[in-house]
Amino acid sequence: MAKMTLNELETFIPMALQTVDLPAVWGAKRTGKVRDLYQKSGKQILITTDRVSAFDRVLGTIPFKGQVLNQLSAWWFEQTQAIVANHVITIPDPNVTIAREAEPLPVEVIVRGYITGVTQTSLWYLYAQGERQPYGIPLPDGLQKNASLPTPIITPTTKATGGAHDERLTREEILAQGLVPETIWAQVEEVALALFAYGQAVAKQAGLILVDTKYEFGLVDGQLTLIDEIHTPDSSRFWTQDSYKKGQEPENFDKEYLRIWFAAQGYRGEGQPPVMPPSFIANVAARYIAAYERLTGKDFSPGEQPAAARIEENLKKNSD
Ligand SMILES: Nc1ncnc2c1ncn2[C@@H]1O[C@H](COP(=O)(O)OP(=O)(O)O)[C@@H](O)[C@H]1O
Ligand SMILES: [Mg+2]
Repeated sequence: MAKMTLNELETFIPMALQTVDLPAVWGAKRTGKVRDLYQKSGKQILITTDRVSAFDRVLGTIPFKGQVLNQLSAWWFEQTQAIVANHVITIPDPNVTIAREAEPLPVEVIVRGYITGVTQTSLWYLYAQGERQPYGIPLPDGLQKNASLPTPIITPTTKATGGAHDERLTREEILAQGLVPETIWAQVEEVALALFAYGQAVAKQAGLILVDTKYEFGLVDGQLTLIDEIHTPDSSRFWTQDSYKKGQEPENFDKEYLRIWFAAQGYRGEGQPPVMPPSFIANVAARYIAAYERLTGKDFSPGEQPAAARIEENLKKNSD
């Protein structure tokens, strides 16, 4: 299928997937910012919707974003199986992953290869405020915004619930507070850096730079398991290699594009968010799709629209 133009993408805006209400046999629905979650027979059903969030708030919907995230994650999960076990059982629909239910570790594992960002937990924000040991990791003086770090670092945060903001953590705090047992945390660190190195190598082949990313881990039968999503434009920052030149702001292939637009409207997470114009939404959709295509080397093939009925139908076929 030929690539969708921006005008075509605009026509899909009214069909963007806001939420999916499955019949009662699927149990109670839980909603994250982006995913609708159901549990059935010890399995976690993750429906990735088209909701988009930034500054820890849902800010609207972007057509095809859910499909891109679900299929891109599925691709990375498959590619990284040898590095760490993951939660995927099957992908019954472009927007759905049926996963093993994990006991999530209460820590978000953020890995950074560069010093950048606009939010108040971003490394650049903290560094520019004069902090030289953010997250307990010593950083040299004289780093410029967007500079690569001598070696990728892990900057964990708490996993906030109910609209709260994530708080910074150090390795020492994680262990002292007993958030994660030491042997598991050591494994997390090793796996996270290996995943990041692999992600950077794949991104490089696609003409992109994997700048930073967030992993979530859980335990399944006591075994460390990668859950949630991996190396998507929601969980990661990607820059185009071409645009990465000294002293310039690189082109963003990720949610930073959205954050920058909202920040330019004066929005930083408080109060009523501004409404995104259709041309901007189409642009964001095109970027999500392009990220999928560049990273996987595959053509994006849009699922039948609207997605909600299709999802229910595909889940029914997988209901045992
Ligand atoms: N295999 C799994 N088992 C249990 N919980 C999971 C699993 N995979 C993902 N999750 C959780 O499901 C939620 C995904 O929904 P999402 O909308 O991304 O939430 P959030 O708003 O917290 O980012 C997250 O809370 C994540 O930790
Ligand atoms: Mg999430």
